[in-house]
Amino acid sequence: MTTVSRCVGAPMTRVDGLDKVTGAARYAYEFPTQGVSYVWPVQATIARGRVTEVDPAPALALPGVLTVLDHTNAPRLNSEAEASADLFVLQSPQVAYHGQMVAAVVATSLEAAREGAAAVRVSYEREPHDVVLRADDERLEIAETVTDGSAGLVERGDADAAWADAPVRVDQTYTTPVEHVSPMEPHATIAVWDEDRLTVFNSDQGPYMSAQLLSALFGIELSAVEVVAEYIGGGFGSKGIPRSPTVLAALAARAVGRPVKIALTRQQMFQLIPYRSPTIQRVRLGAGRDGRLTVIQHESVQQRSALVPFADQTVSSTRMMYAAPNARTTVKVAPLDVMTPAWFRAPGHTPGMFALESAVDELAEALGMDPIELRIRNEPENDPESGKPFSSRNLVACLREGAARFGWEHRDPTPGTGREGRWLVGTGVAASHHPDYTFPSSAVARAEEDGTFRVRVGAADLGTGARTALTQVAADALGIPVSRLRLEIGRASLGMAPFAGGSLGTASWGWAVDKACRALLKELDVYAGVVPDGGLEVVADTTEDLGQRADLSRHTFGAQFAQVRVDADTGEVRVDRMLGVFAAGRIVNPHTARSQFLGAMTMGLSMALLEIGEVDPVFGDFANHDFAGYHIAAHADVPRLDVVCLDETDNTSNPVGAKGIGELGIVGAAAAIGNAFHHATGERVRDLPIRIERSR
Ligand code: MOS
Repeated sequence: MTTVSRCVGAPMTRVDGLDKVTGAARYAYEFPTQGVSYVWPVQATIARGRVTEVDPAPALALPGVLTVLDHTNAPRLNSEAEASADLFVLQSPQVAYHGQMVAAVVATSLEAAREGAAAVRVSYEREPHDVVLRADDERLEIAETVTDGSAGLVERGDADAAWADAPVRVDQTYTTPVEHVSPMEPHATIAVWDEDRLTVFNSDQGPYMSAQLLSALFGIELSAVEVVAEYIGGGFGSKGIPRSPTVLAALAARAVGRPVKIALTRQQMFQLIPYRSPTIQRVRLGAGRDGRLTVIQHESVQQRSALVPFADQTVSSTRMMYAAPNARTTVKVAPLDVMTPAWFRAPGHTPGMFALESAVDELAEALGMDPIELRIRNEPENDPESGKPFSSRNLVACLREGAARFGWEHRDPTPGTGREGRWLVGTGVAASHHPDYTFPSSAVARAEEDGTFRVRVGAADLGTGARTALTQVAADALGIPVSRLRLEIGRASLGMAPFAGGSLGTASWGWAVDKACRALLKELDVYAGVVPDGGLEVVADTTEDLGQRADLSRHTFGAQFAQVRVDADTGEVRVDRMLGVFAAGRIVNPHTARSQFLGAMTMGLSMALLEIGEVDPVFGDFANHDFAGYHIAAHADVPRLDVVCLDETDNTSNPVGAKGIGELGIVGAAAAIGNAFHHATGERVRDLPIRIERSR
């Protein structure tokens, strides 16, 4: 770096904070649109079978109803498009899951659309369904690939022989339930066609990538699709690609020849937006009496839908966390008559590390060893799976720093001995991990004649602070104060850019922004610093720069600590305090980074104690589908949370030095709480969410 950094690393207040709190920030549903109409989906009341008839007459008789769409009359999507089968909305009479869209009503008012949808009569040919995940399901198959691109089965050494020989062993099964992604802003879209040009105002994690998908689905040029996602009220993976409501809005707008809006109700979120697959995970750890792992076996059983072979990377953290010479890690999936599961914050890693880090705690107990010491003893030199050196790995530093801050040394390791009145009190620790991804991105930097600069990048800010972080990166690269800079994000037409997913946004977009700004300064030198008439603009693209990244194993790490109290009489579980210590490269903005970690740790607490989608085997639906029945952590559940980011210099990552932080904070949090629960009570709960009656 040549420019002295002034902005990156400073706890800058959000540049869009004022717009957000004053209502000036525009979310997808809020764009003023002339002559807009509304679409409301009609959802399947069976879990498997086919639609035999849709009777639109009662709906069409209602005032304001414009049309009723079903698979017989909806505009055709490009059947060749490379898109998830879930997105071929109203293209077939097949019903693959309860709640799937089977028809839709478009009307001049929201109320008329909703009333119309209730009036549509749908007949079905019903087939028997199966929505329950079982470890002994005969249809279970090893996933060919999981969502991080790795194989469903990976083995090193001889995992069976090592298991047979291991002097100390832990063999346990852990389960995690269906967890619903619950962003504050439900999915919303306004779709507008102008001849063959489509504009969607979408609550969306990746406007450019969404435009690519929509152009494929509708069989139109990428340049004919604009996706606008200026502000987004959270996504957590669920808005990583357009989901069925976005496609429905575009289909409906096509059909009626006017703009169409949709905004899901909270209940519809549970029925139409993918969730985190439940898992049944068997973990076997074998170690010598010195605590060195000789073998790890981790098998995760998960579900997919009949439509899509989705498989979370639930065992991927296990592949590189610890220095075991022998390992077998497997993801198996069963095709069920369910909505396709999908990404939910740190997909795979979150449930996977609940199981692994609980098992490590159990091994520590079996060995009579401190769980932090056990982890340090199994710290690998290089990535144990790939053999590659780590670009940076500071798990041990996180564990040590956390132990010192949390007061770990005063802990009596004996479970069930901490008591405060009627409360049993215990503490627990777990490691956290997330891959450090970077995708190619482009960015445009422009010098204006008036001495100001404009930077454009197709990023999305889900509420993470991306707009602020990228402003900091651009200001530093240009060597100017933020007041001379205008940053534009949140549109597909700003250029090729990856989505706000996989915690890769800041590193990927930041790299392109940095590159564009520096190239612009060089270009300006040619003009001796005087901006030519009409301004000067430079486009940068990092596609070529990403090559060397493959030589190193790139990850972020953390240590999660929790103190839990359990009412000895009622079994009420409360978390007293949590501490997360993270090492994730250069922290561009400590203020917004801390918020990310606080949110993720809260989500981990919510996972540990509250969240469960209750599957109804009879109707094939979720029995709870609102916040009355599906509980997420509220303020009263959230204790004192502390976040510490270690200084980590990873000069190999990108010119900004940033790694991803959005997902790291949830990983391991539930295991730390579960381990603390065990320390408090002497009981082990291996099935989330933790409830006293589940201890075994
Ligand atoms: Mo995140 S689940 O990769 O958006």
